Amino acid sequence: MQTVAVIGTQWGDEGKGKIVDLLAADAAVVVRFQGGNNAAHTLVVGGEKFILRMVPAGALHPGKTCVIGNGMVVDPFALVEEIDRLKKHSQLSDPALLKISYDAHLVMPYHQAIDRAREERLGKRKVGTTGFGIGPAYEDKMARSGLRFADLASPAAFKSRLEYNLKEKNLYLKNVLKAKPVDGRRLLAQIAPMRRRLMPYLADTAALVAGVAAEGRKILFEGAHGTMLDIDHGTYPYVTSSSCLASAVFSGGGLPPGRLDAVLGISKAYTTRVGGGPFPSEIKGALSDRLREEGNEFGSATGRPRRVGWFDAVSARYAARLNGMWGLALTKLDVLTGVNPLRICYAYQIGSKRYDEMPPSCLALDKVRPLYEELPGWDENLGEARSLAELPENARRYLDRIAQLSGVKLAMVGVGAAREAIIILENPFLN
Ligand code: IMP
Repeated sequence: MQTVAVIGTQWGDEGKGKIVDLLAADAAVVVRFQGGNNAAHTLVVGGEKFILRMVPAGALHPGKTCVIGNGMVVDPFALVEEIDRLKKHSQLSDPALLKISYDAHLVMPYHQAIDRAREERLGKRKVGTTGFGIGPAYEDKMARSGLRFADLASPAAFKSRLEYNLKEKNLYLKNVLKAKPVDGRRLLAQIAPMRRRLMPYLADTAALVAGVAAEGRKILFEGAHGTMLDIDHGTYPYVTSSSCLASAVFSGGGLPPGRLDAVLGISKAYTTRVGGGPFPSEIKGALSDRLREEGNEFGSATGRPRRVGWFDAVSARYAARLNGMWGLALTKLDVLTGVNPLRICYAYQIGSKRYDEMPPSCLALDKVRPLYEELPGWDENLGEARSLAELPENARRYLDRIAQLSGVKLAMVGVGAAREAIIILENPFLN
């Protein structure tokens, strides 16, 4: 297969970075198509840890073209820092290999200020955003008042639109949110150096993606966040502000519909969630603390502790349907070593009604009583396993049951943090 999308099936943090890194080895082009630096893909390469927020994970493979697609909202100052960090570690050495869409929107400091001030005002009802201004930047995009990379081409027009936005946002910050306005003069002074750094990377990325697909070369689409955080199908309003599903590859990446060959869904062997909102299979108490420590479940973007839960097969089936999943990559199976018994949520109970599928509009998820089945655990260390046969029988049974309940075949199983700690059953690019 030539075009593959890697999509989170849970609430983000499924370990997509590791799978993207593996698949990027076979791709000519790696594309991010939604979200911004609210995502953070952590990769361990040669013992060194890299956190990528906006640059696609293909950057860690020499010779790959990395695309920041039109569907993204980009903090340009954070992007300059990310590029510099990668270069310091001898990555991204060829500037021709990073392409930023003219149509991607810019996240400005007033977006961040609004995001944070709103969360503060919401108090207990807050979404628990990353605070990086993602929602307000997408609002401006939809309101047709956002600034895009393309606008940087005309400095005078850019300045005048930025000044207009600044004025409006500062009034809103001061008078409605009762928050500190953004220092406009400082921001305006930062634009020219940022422009000089990023203009050379700008490209018509949608045309590039369509061209590469037409030539039959391999393209990897790197999803961020996860299905349950999707603006349309997630646990609204406790979601992010972009479309996180495979279908966003077309609008946010420029791939012509019909050209996507496979969707690989990524899921942890258990579940995590950062921020507020319903979480039916959440675990409380000592076991959640233990899994959080074992799995290092602290946000890569914000450092916040993640909430931890059992594998939820209802949301897995939902994600499989919404994304038309070809296969499932399960990550972090090793973290469950020593947990006995294991539980899988196979259905929800709300009041007297049982739901085998996601209730419409994810309604009343905060009132769900999860229905669990129990499976025996294992005590062996899994880190060295490179085939299913090398796993303990109970681990294989757990995997079989997850595949069966999710209705999707297993393609990969992660057994540790290192690049090579993975069991590959089927690689979509080699299929
Ligand atoms: P925002 O995307 O910063 O607006 O945050 C909205 C919600 O999405 C919050 O609950 C965040 O914790 C969550 N979120 C956004 N990006 C990620 C991610 O990459 N992993 C996990 N949660 C995320």
